[in-house]
Amino acid sequence: MTDETTNGMEIAIKGIIEKKRYGRELDDGEIEAFIDAYMAGTATDAQASALAMAVCCNGMNRRETDALTRAMLRSGETIDWGRGAPTADKHSTGGVGDKLSFIVQPVAAACGLRVPSLVGRALGYTGGTADKFESIPGCRVALSLDAFRATVEKTGLSMATQTAEIAPADRKLYALRDTTGTVASQALITASILSKKLAEGAGALVFDVRCGRGAFMKTREEAESLAAALTEGAKAAGRKASAFVTPMDAPVGRAVGNAVEVAEALDILRGCDGAPADVRETALVLASEMVSLAKDCGLEDARAQCEEVLSGGAALARFEAMVEAQGGSLDAFEHMMRRPCARFAIQSPRGGYVADIDASVVAESALFLGAGRERPGDAIDPLAGIILSVRPGEKVSPGSALATLQASGAPDRLEAAAAKLVRAFSFTRARRDEERPMILSIVR
Ligand code: URA
Repeated sequence: MTDETTNGMEIAIKGIIEKKRYGRELDDGEIEAFIDAYMAGTATDAQASALAMAVCCNGMNRRETDALTRAMLRSGETIDWGRGAPTADKHSTGGVGDKLSFIVQPVAAACGLRVPSLVGRALGYTGGTADKFESIPGCRVALSLDAFRATVEKTGLSMATQTAEIAPADRKLYALRDTTGTVASQALITASILSKKLAEGAGALVFDVRCGRGAFMKTREEAESLAAALTEGAKAAGRKASAFVTPMDAPVGRAVGNAVEVAEALDILRGCDGAPADVRETALVLASEMVSLAKDCGLEDARAQCEEVLSGGAALARFEAMVEAQGGSLDAFEHMMRRPCARFAIQSPRGGYVADIDASVVAESALFLGAGRERPGDAIDPLAGIILSVRPGEKVSPGSALATLQASGAPDRLEAAAAKLVRAFSFTRARRDEERPMILSIVR
């Protein structure tokens, strides 16, 4: 590039940022030019952060969001699965304690679908499926396109991160948004999710749009609007799609962290007594939708297939096969979970009933323990996490256990994290018979 072209590009990039800063609509060519320049290195991280912040503040309409999705999708390859079993995937917009992918994807694969799943790392205070999966010793998630494809063909499913080959623009922007306070934007979330999901080539997509204190979408209105944007965008790209708006005020299940969440998902796959029934049920609802969309069969039929593979162990076998194919060892995982690590329990200050557990406070405490990253590139402690002994609506007595915190890397942080965590709990004297719906609404 000549100096003159570089200078012209510099001016154009700055002009695009300023246009969005003034709240004006970007045309498709400007959005494409920006993403192309960012991928080529002629637009810098600082400029991409500035544009992301302008989008967070001023939004993007549907046409701009579609153009951003297309530009991000074009940054890498799109997989064509050709003939064979139908393909489908489920994606969550991010929650606290959300380990559903480790149940839903294996169930769908055991029902005969091919499930290529591009997953993300921890974002903001929400955990990342990629980090959780990597807590299984040996598990690799940075797969080449060929390895990703081969794993899906061999085991029925694979979980891998965005790479230089698949969804590279999302890989760069995802990490940047995490450190610049620019995650919670409907347009950016829609383009991030759709560019990955369209690149992986799944024919049917089910979105789990989390809503509440522990999610990026705080209100039901925002979540339903994101659900509509995701399903409409996926359908416009020729995919079958539905979205479920699900609550995210209290953590999903009892475990929040990385290895502890994988262990809870394994308990559900293994049918262990005491595994959270509501997490199992939500997983079955999402998996049934995937199967029904992908196989074009009724929901009742899909549900019966999902129940059978989950109760009969076929879903567990798929999960084990994926772990092995990606280099992981569940024996080493069990060994790691039995290893002594620093623990600290917190007790109820009073008797009564748990009225609420604030997922955002639980997430901050888990992050402080080392379950997430405070700075980009920070190492994650796979064992760091929180196990809740109670859930909303359950009875407590003075001094009874509320939760246990654990960490291998930073035992000195346990007490400070515990002091934070206590603030997540609120209590009532009398039992409240509140409905706690698992699904708030469905967009089809
Ligand atoms: N999940 C994603 O994949 N991207 C986002 O931007 C938010 C949640």
